Amino acid sequence: MKFSTRLLLPFFLALAPSASAASPTDLQAQIGHHVIFSYPGLEPPAHLLDLIAEGKVGGIIIFGENVGDNLTTTIDNFQKTYKQSPYYSGSPLFIMTDQEGGQVRRLPGGPEESAKQIGQAADREAAATQMGKDAASTLEEFKNNANLAPVLDVYREAGDFADASQRSFSNSSRIVGTCGSAFISAQQSAGVVAAAKHFPGLGAAGTGENTDLQPVTIDLTIEELHKVDMTPYTQAITAGVDMVMTSWAIYPALDPTYPSGLSKTIIQDELRGRLGFKGVTITDAVEAGALEAFGDQAARGLLAAQAGIDILLASKRDVTQGEDIYNALLAALEDGSLDQDVFSAATQRILDVRKKLV
Ligand SMILES: *[C@@H]1O[C@H](CO)[C@@H](O)[C@H](O)[C@H]1NC(C)=O
Ligand SMILES: *[C@@H]1O[C@H](CO)[C@@H](O)[C@H](O)[C@H]1NC(C)=O
Repeated sequence: MKFSTRLLLPFFLALAPSASAASPTDLQAQIGHHVIFSYPGLEPPAHLLDLIAEGKVGGIIIFGENVGDNLTTTIDNFQKTYKQSPYYSGSPLFIMTDQEGGQVRRLPGGPEESAKQIGQAADREAAATQMGKDAASTLEEFKNNANLAPVLDVYREAGDFADASQRSFSNSSRIVGTCGSAFISAQQSAGVVAAAKHFPGLGAAGTGENTDLQPVTIDLTIEELHKVDMTPYTQAITAGVDMVMTSWAIYPALDPTYPSGLSKTIIQDELRGRLGFKGVTITDAVEAGALEAFGDQAARGLLAAQAGIDILLASKRDVTQGEDIYNALLAALEDGSLDQDVFSAATQRILDVRKKLV
C-alpha cells in the first residue's frame, strides 16, 4: 500500500472502533461517500446496483426522466442494497434532486411558486418558510433526502440568466438572504438536507450565460462579490445550511484560472476561511460545458477534490461517469496527489450530514 495507514486511522476509528488497520477495502468504502451517481430513464442499470453493493456510491441524483410509478420502489431497492452490503456506514445513501420551485422541479409536487414569486410576496419570509416545507414534503413523498436548493443567486437585470427562469428570489441581497435562510430552516427542520447554490453567486450572469452549456466569466470586483453575491451565504450559514454547491463560473477577481468549484481560493479562503462554512461542499454537474478546458470527467472530479470539494456530482445520467471519477480519486489517494488527511476530513463532514438522514 502506498498510502499511510497511520493517517487513515483517526477516520476509521470513528467509523468502526474495532478496525485496527485500514485496508484497500476501507479506502474503497471511503471514496464511495464522495461520489453521487445518476442513471438514464426509469430502470436503473444492474451495474449501478452492483456498484452500490461494492460501497462505491455515496448517493444518487434523480432527474425527471427517472420519475415513474416505480420510483420509490427503485429507491427502496438502492437503500436495501446498500444496507445489506459490508460497506454500510449506518446511514442511508443520499438521494438528491433539484426541487427549487416554479419551473425547476424534478418531482411531481410543490413548491409550485418560483423563487421570484416568493421574493415578491407580501410576507416573503413566511412564504419562503412554506416553500421549504413544501419542498421537504415532496422529497419525502418520493423518498429523496437532499434538495439541491435554494438558489441564493442575486439577479442583476430583468431577464438575465437567473431572472429569466425566475430562480432568483430578488435583485436585493438582503431579500435573497432572508428568503433563502427561511427556506433552509424550514426544509432542514423537516429532515431534508438543503444545498445553497451556486457559490459565490451566478446572479450577475447575463441572458443565456449558462455554465451547463459554456464557460462563463463573472467579472465583478471582490467588493461587489462580497457585498452583494456572498452576503446571502452568511445568513444561510447562520441558519445552519448543511451543504453549499459551488458554481462553474470563473470569477477573475478571486481566481483568474479556475472556475469556483475547482478553485482553492474560492472554496478554502472564501467559503471556509472568510465565511466560516463547516458543512459539506458539492460541485454542480461535473459534465457542465463550462469545464470543457479542464479535461475528461475523471480529471474534472479529481481537480475539484484537490481544490477542497467534498462531493462530486456525476449527473450525466451515465453510470460510467461516476465510476471514472471514483477510479481517479482512488489512484490519486494511492499516489499521494490527493492528500489523505484532507480527504478524510471531507469524508467525516459527509458522514456527519448523512447521520441526520432517516
Ligand atoms: C414497475 O414495476 C412493476 C412491478 O414490479 C413492473 O411490472 C413494471 O414493468 C415496472 N414499470 C416500469 C415502468 O418500470
Ligand atoms: C431591483 O429592481 C427594482 C425593480 O425593478 C428596482 O427598483 C431596484 O432599484 C432594484 N434594486 C437593486 C438593488 O438593484
